[in-house]
Amino acid sequence: MKYDIDMLINKAKEARNNAYAPYSNFKVGAAILLKNGEYILGCNIENASYGLSNCAERTALFKLISEGYNKNDCVAMCIIGDTDLPISPCGACRQVMVELLNNDCPIILANTNNKYAVYKNSDLLPLSFTESSLK
Ligand code: THU
Repeated sequence: MKYDIDMLINKAKEARNNAYAPYSNFKVGAAILLKNGEYILGCNIENASYGLSNCAERTALFKLISEGYNKNDCVAMCIIGDTDLPISPCGACRQVMVELLNNDCPIILANTNNKYAVYKNSDLLPLSFTESSLK
């Protein structure tokens, strides 16, 4: 499905402004474009008990589900951070992305210097453990 990539990147930037990252000072934003034209935004949310911190990607994906949407409502997702190369999502988030987005969902990895690259969701986590792995 066609979408406005610049608009999606801007929404992820907007989400990044809300990051709560007082410990790492590393702000991340995520935006999911829905087929109905709406965006679901997410930012990283840290905690003094560091391990309880939540990445921007998972914030957005958990919001997607909690708002009553699912993978079939999604057009594309964008993630943005202040990295030299377009940001690379952590392994935990890739696993959640594989669970909650379609395999062919475009994932735009971006940085704050206007660099981005587009990947297919399932390419970001080869040999993933999925529902079909469970017997
Ligand atoms: N972080 C994200 O939110 N997404 C990523 O793709 C990489 C890392 C967050 C977690 C933590 O709050 C901070 O960035 C530094 O690791």
